[in-house]
Amino acid sequence: MVFKVSRVETSPIDGQKPGTSGLRKKVKVFKQPHYLHNFVQATFNALSADKVRGATLVVSGDGRYYSKDAIQIIIKMAAANGVRGVWIGQNGLLSTPAVSAVIRERVDANGSKASGGFILTASHNPGGPNEDFGIKYNMENGGPAPEGITDKIYENTKTITEYFIAEDLPDVDISSIGVTSFGGPEGQFDVDVFDSASDYVKLMKSIFDFQSIQKLVTSPKFTLCYDALHGVGGAYANRIFVEELGAQESSLINCTPKEDFGGGHPDPNLTYAKELVARMGLDKSKPQSDPPEFGAAADGDADRNMILGKRFFVTPSDSVAIIAANAVEAIPYFSSGLKGVARSMPTSAALDVVAKHLNLKFFEVPTGWKFFGNLMDAGMCSVCGEESFGTGSDHIREKDGIWAVLAWLSILAFKNKDNLDGKDLVTVEDIVRQHWATFGRHYYTRYDYENVDAGAAKELMANLVKLQSSLPDVNKIIEGIRSDVSEVVQADEFEYKDPVDGSISKHQGIRYLFKDGSRLVFRLSGTGSEGATIRLYIEQYEKDSSKIGRESSEALAPLVEVALKLSKMQEFTGRSAPTVIT
Ligand code: G6P
Ligand code: ZN
Repeated sequence: MVFKVSRVETSPIDGQKPGTSGLRKKVKVFKQPHYLHNFVQATFNALSADKVRGATLVVSGDGRYYSKDAIQIIIKMAAANGVRGVWIGQNGLLSTPAVSAVIRERVDANGSKASGGFILTASHNPGGPNEDFGIKYNMENGGPAPEGITDKIYENTKTITEYFIAEDLPDVDISSIGVTSFGGPEGQFDVDVFDSASDYVKLMKSIFDFQSIQKLVTSPKFTLCYDALHGVGGAYANRIFVEELGAQESSLINCTPKEDFGGGHPDPNLTYAKELVARMGLDKSKPQSDPPEFGAAADGDADRNMILGKRFFVTPSDSVAIIAANAVEAIPYFSSGLKGVARSMPTSAALDVVAKHLNLKFFEVPTGWKFFGNLMDAGMCSVCGEESFGTGSDHIREKDGIWAVLAWLSILAFKNKDNLDGKDLVTVEDIVRQHWATFGRHYYTRYDYENVDAGAAKELMANLVKLQSSLPDVNKIIEGIRSDVSEVVQADEFEYKDPVDGSISKHQGIRYLFKDGSRLVFRLSGTGSEGATIRLYIEQYEKDSSKIGRESSEALAPLVEVALKLSKMQEFTGRSAPTVIT
């Protein structure tokens, strides 16, 4: 059968501007006639012709509700736009890091490589008929499309008049592995359904020493718990942790991917990863007699991670610093040294201290993984991380939740290589406390105010910017709130000049920097789909080793009070408490 190409007339639909990580909207919005079609065609039209005609594209995602329909639509549109082949992870499942790996590494039976891919995910946002769906395009380097392309996509969505689709192409069975070929007006069109995990597992095995991790994982002294929150991470967890590393099956919880993530919020933090948090002994209302030594969770598309020890939370900012400090010794991929390290602006300065000690190149970039990608493509950065539970390296161009878990297991395996029979285990908590003792501790917390009125959020931010024009006034206000915090010595809106392409990103968050190294940062989230989310990041550096063991909430209480009163949080938002504290 030769499929026909239909040209369908359409008109622009408002609001298709991709955010930090693609277009995220309620499923209802995506289901409107032409909505997805317009965006996909706008993307094809934004790419250079050779990245579409005759090219191979990956299409898959975290398996959330509407993914299967979207995949069939994109297959038909790809065929109609002259794409040569579409690669689909079995059942439409590929984690975001796996898509990046597949674009960079996979070669099919014809020797073809992919030139990019659509990732169908709204990451850590809930899924289901009344929740979120999302789509983003990643380029040939495996990383998210740069702003030049996403701007073009948006412009195209505002002027679109037509799209192309092979309406008579039958739906492809994406549940079984294999290639289905069709004849089109421009020749053969293949849909290749492949195993979601094997390329990714192969890559992980080339980075980490699986043997030494296996020794740790199978030691009777060691127990672990991995919670995929019913996201796509579950499709990798069994393969990697159980089959390859020998963990017990009972170590995995919520590892069956579900379209609605079991009704939960697939965000790996202390609020949403409830079951794991309880198992690890971190929920005071559910005391545990002997929690596992190591716990980790992933978000819907498995690019985020949360790392826990027995009754112990590792902040993401500490996590990346600790990985960087130990990478060369503990992870074979880094054995010849790190090219540099980077963090996003709101992430704590724990990584800065490691970079200084180890004499590493260091970069502070705006929020958004794409900024790391540029540095990595230029060979300037090996390890990077964000406070928003993202950690990764230059093995791909996305953050990578399972990579982070394997990095921690590698560090634990390395520190315990002589301890597995006999001596006491060096625990996650020991590693973190040892790190603080060496480098100092960055007390850190983030307050999120979700779904705030967008106008009110803007006003709050504008007021904070206005205040910055007079530091003496700011300090007077602060003195009136708490006399026990240090003074603000610099206040600005973070601006970044990309050292690789020279591009400038402005208005990347409002900073108040204190004399003693403390910081308050205010930002509006770029990933929400409803109203505005205000994020407040609070940080205090403590070098004195006698003071590094305090409760974080207690150590930060004065700064929190200053932040809330200075910003007039309650006055502007009507909220007396944040939605989430991490
Ligand atoms: C996504 C990006 C991250 C970024 C995060 C910020 O997860 O991939 O790089 O840190 O969004 O989200 P926010 O809601 O704070 O804009
Ligand atoms: Zn994610």
